Amino acid sequence: MERKTTHIPPEDIARQRGYCGAIKEINTRFAKAPLAFVDTYGCQQNEADSERIRGYLKEMGYGFTQDEKEAAVIVINTCAIREHAEQRVLGNVGALVHTKRKNPNQIICLCGCMVQEPHNAAKIRTSYRHVDMVFGPHALWRFPEFLYRILTRRGRIFETADDPGSIAEGIPVVRQNGVKAWVSIMYGCNNFCSYCIVPYVRGRERSRDPEGILAEVEELAKAGYKEITLLGQNVNSYGKDLPEPMDFADLLRKVNAVPGDFLIRFMTSHPKDATEKLFDAMAECEKVAPVIHLPVQAGNNRVLKAMNRVYTREIYLEKVRQLRQRIPDIVLTSDIIVGFPGETTEEFEDTMSLLREVEYDALFTFIYSPREGTPAAKMPDPMSKEEKSANFQRLVDLQNEISLKKHQAYEGKTIRCLVDGRSDDPRNNLTARTPGGRLVHFTGDEKLIGTYQNLTITGCSTWALFGELAE
Ligand code: SAH
Ligand code: SF4
Ligand code: F3S
Repeated sequence: MERKTTHIPPEDIARQRGYCGAIKEINTRFAKAPLAFVDTYGCQQNEADSERIRGYLKEMGYGFTQDEKEAAVIVINTCAIREHAEQRVLGNVGALVHTKRKNPNQIICLCGCMVQEPHNAAKIRTSYRHVDMVFGPHALWRFPEFLYRILTRRGRIFETADDPGSIAEGIPVVRQNGVKAWVSIMYGCNNFCSYCIVPYVRGRERSRDPEGILAEVEELAKAGYKEITLLGQNVNSYGKDLPEPMDFADLLRKVNAVPGDFLIRFMTSHPKDATEKLFDAMAECEKVAPVIHLPVQAGNNRVLKAMNRVYTREIYLEKVRQLRQRIPDIVLTSDIIVGFPGETTEEFEDTMSLLREVEYDALFTFIYSPREGTPAAKMPDPMSKEEKSANFQRLVDLQNEISLKKHQAYEGKTIRCLVDGRSDDPRNNLTARTPGGRLVHFTGDEKLIGTYQNLTITGCSTWALFGELAE
C-alpha cells in the first residue's frame, strides 16, 4: 500500500533544533535564564503538544514560570471545541496587553486549534496587535524557527496555512507529570461529525509508526512512569494508513508486552470502530486498565444520523454488552451533547433512557455550541436556550444519581490504586486513582506519590471516593 502519511524529514527537525541552539546562545547573554509561560486549553492532545513546546523552550535555555508578568515568552495553546473555550482564550489574551505594556520585549505566541480557524487568525491579526506569533497545530514543529525570527528581526508571524497534516518525530518533550505520561499514537480526525471543528483544524488521520510508539513507551516504563495514556481523536482507527497492516488492538498487545509495572489507558474511542477484537485485547492484556471512554453523544437514532456518528443506539448498546460480557466491572464514561440543532425534547428523552440503560460511571456533558464552517452550524436550531438548559440540568441530575450509586458500590472494597498527587479535599492530602480511573482522596505520606497502594474505600460522593491505606 502506498503510504499517504507524510513525515517531516529528520534533517528538518534537526534544523529546528539548530535554531534552539542559536536561541540558547542569545539567552546565555543574560545573567539569569529568561522565563517562559505555557498555558494550555483543551484536550490531552493539546497537553501533549504543550509538552513538546516546553521541550523546545527548555532546549532554547528558557526556565519556566506560572506568572505571565515575569515571562519573556508566553505561549497560549488554544482550543476551538466550543465557543466558551474560545472566549476564555480571547479574554486572557486581551488581558496580556497590560503585561506587555510593562514589558515591551515580551513575546506573545498563540498556537493550537483556535488559531487554525481562518476567522480567528484574522481577528488576532487585526484586533490583538500585541500578539507576536500565531501558528496552528500543523506548524508546531517549526516553533524554534519562528521564535528565532522574532528575536532577531521582530515583526509578526502568522503560520496558519491549511494542511492535511504530517508527523514530526524527534521533538524534545518536557513532561508535566512524573507519574503519568501521554503518548500520541495518531493525529487528526476523518470522521467529520457534523457539529465538530476538530477535523478542520487538526487535519487528516495519520498514525505514528508502532516502532516509535513502542520506543517511547519503553523509555517511559524505564523512567518509572506508572500510567501511560495512548492518545488520538479516534484511537480505534489507528493503523489504517500504515504500510504494514496493524490495528489498535494489535498495538495494545504490543504496548502491553513492554516490561514494567504500569497501566495503559487510551482515549478517545469512537464507537463505530470499537470492535470485539479490541474488547478481547482489553480483557486479555493485564496492563490495560478496565476503563473505556466511549462517547455516545446522543441516544436517538435520528439525532445520531444528523450528527454523522455512523452508529445507531442499538449498535452502541450491543457494543456495551459485548464489553461487559468480557470485562464485567469495566468503568464506562461518555460524552453527551444536549441541544444539537433540531433535537426535540422527545428525542432528548432517548438520551435519558440510554443513560438509565447503560449507567455510566461518569459523563462529560456539553450544550451544543455552533462552530463556524461545520454542517451543523447551518442546521435550523429552533429550541430556546432555556429549554436546552432545562434538559441539560435533568441530564446532569440523572447522571449524578447514577454516579453516586456506582460509587457507593465501592464502599468496603480494598483496591490497588496509583497515588497520583495532592488532594484539594480539606480532610485529605493525597489523591489516587483506581485502575478504572475513579478518583480517591485519602491521607498518607507524600512520599507515596507515584506508588501503588492498597486503599480501602470508606465513603464517597457523586464525584469521588474516600479511602484509607489498607493495613
Ligand atoms: N474525538 C472524540 C471527541 C473529542 S471532542 C470523540 O469523537 O469522541 C470532545 C467532546 O466535545 C465530544 O465528544 C463532544 O461531546 C464535545 N463537542 C465537540 N464539538 C462540540 C460542539 N460543537 N458543541 C458541544 N460539544 C461539542
Ligand atoms: Fe470530532 Fe467526531 Fe472527530 Fe471526535 S470523531 S474529533 S467528535 S469529528
Ligand atoms: Fe480543543 Fe483542539 Fe483538543 S479543538 S478539544 S484542543 S483537538
